Amino acid sequence: MSIEVRDGAHELRAEEARLVLDLAEQAEAADGSPPLSEQFRLSVGSGDPDVTHVLSYAAEPALAGYAQVRAWSGDEPPSAELVVAPTWRRQGVGSALLSALPQDARVWSHATGRAAAAADMFARAMGLEPVRSLHVMGRSLVDGPPWPAAAVPERYSVRTFETGRDEDAWVAVNAAAFASHPEQGALTRRDLEQRMDQPWWDPEGFILIVDALASDRIAAFHWTKVDPPDGDTGEVYVVGVAPDRQGEGLGKAVTILGLDHLRARGLRDVVLYVDEDNVAAVRTYAGLGFTDREVHRQYARLP
Ligand SMILES: CC(C)(COP(=O)(O)OP(=O)(O)OC[C@H]1O[C@@H](n2cnc3c(N)ncnc32)[C@H](O)[C@@H]1OP(=O)(O)O)[C@@H](O)C(=O)NCCC(=O)NCCS
Repeated sequence: MSIEVRDGAHELRAEEARLVLDLAEQAEAADGSPPLSEQFRLSVGSGDPDVTHVLSYAAEPALAGYAQVRAWSGDEPPSAELVVAPTWRRQGVGSALLSALPQDARVWSHATGRAAAAADMFARAMGLEPVRSLHVMGRSLVDGPPWPAAAVPERYSVRTFETGRDEDAWVAVNAAAFASHPEQGALTRRDLEQRMDQPWWDPEGFILIVDALASDRIAAFHWTKVDPPDGDTGEVYVVGVAPDRQGEGLGKAVTILGLDHLRARGLRDVVLYVDEDNVAAVRTYAGLGFTDREVHRQYARLP
């Protein structure tokens, strides 16, 4: 068993990236849940300078496990995700990967059901404790409690994202709206462009509430996502309101505009991810008929 660490200056070769994505797929088939989140999956082959990859080879080229750690600017501790190939579990691969990560790294578990219980036992055996929970909430778009019509105050108008016009303004309003949110607030123009290259990118589903008299000024946004694009489930991907426009009801209004859009596309179901401690958001979504479906946990070594 060997461990290889690649920092931002030594990105993964294309065939290594493919092995990692294959391994993640095998784990998903065995566990019923993807081990890597979207940003981590996108970073596998991207050569991102803030990302370090850790590969555990059984006997090259057989990959037994993979971990990725992402550094943030400021005081935020790095976040990590790790996965062991189903046939290599309970043989110390997970522990070896974990010991190659920075001591203060926070490790995500995206598993559900029995795999979540296994991840929890692994984390606790390694001296990690759960420190943050991300809830997946969902609702039907065809049944269930109706949602009200969107109430957009008169000084605003509604339009969709325009490629080539809104990128920088959106990155700025997103950073301001999520200043206290480690991952979402750190999104750069490059991260946005990575998403714009994905098969699911659809500016028609990226709804903006802008000043009626200055339509480049974004007051609130609701980026919806349909992945796979021919599937029947939509996602409330990101909802944000500029800090100086909060308290005017724009969050609820823009959420509703997105739900209207997803329903008009003929989708049947919608999901979203929200931090447990974001009480205002959880309450807004619960009020629009969303209920809890899954919980993702982040683990950390306590001092
Ligand atoms: C969680 C995961 C990374 C563990 O990897 P692993 O290589 O099997 O872990 P290790 O062999 O290093 O296990 C170390 C210790 O963790 C505990 N542990 C690991 N898996 C466990 C399980 N299924 N049930 C109970 N304890 C478990 C045990 O104490 C184990 O020591 P032991 O095997 O000597 O009893 C792996 O199951 C996986 O890839 N799961 C899917 C992705 C995921 O959930 N990642 C998030 C991790 S927080």
